[in-house]
Amino acid sequence: MYSEDVSSAPEIAWADLRTLAREATKRSYAPYSNVTVGAGALTSDGKTVVGSNVENASYGLTLCAECSLVSDLIREGGARLVAVSIVAGDGKPITPCGRCRQLLFEHGGADLLVDAGEGAAPRRLGELLPGAFGPEDLGIRRNP
Ligand code: THU
Repeated sequence: MYSEDVSSAPEIAWADLRTLAREATKRSYAPYSNVTVGAGALTSDGKTVVGSNVENASYGLTLCAECSLVSDLIREGGARLVAVSIVAGDGKPITPCGRCRQLLFEHGGADLLVDAGEGAAPRRLGELLPGAFGPEDLGIRRNP
């Protein structure tokens, strides 16, 4: 099943990723903010992975839906992220927070496509996190 959104890359089933993300909002634990967030992504080996936000009474320990998604990704074999949809409980896409842009960059790089909603062109992560520090920087900047 493919997205009805012709402005999106045609090979990405955006509607399916949104459905996964919306379903994941129902498995969120967000008693403090009451902002449920779900994420669904397509991987380079053709799998889908999901995540939900998990809050904590010590507010700063909250895990975003993208953290949960990355855990699912690694547990499923650790392929690259190709496309991701992140939605709130209203079913509409949210833009990933700064920390999660970095988390997603580690596993999808600048070419990772981020859902911008039906009728809108997905955005490259490189647009959301320009000039990112990544794993390759460790290799070239480490002291000899
Ligand atoms: N949240 C996410 O899950 N992902 C984001 O990228 C932004 C924020 C969650 C964290 C918290 O549980 C709630 O949304 C309100 O900030």
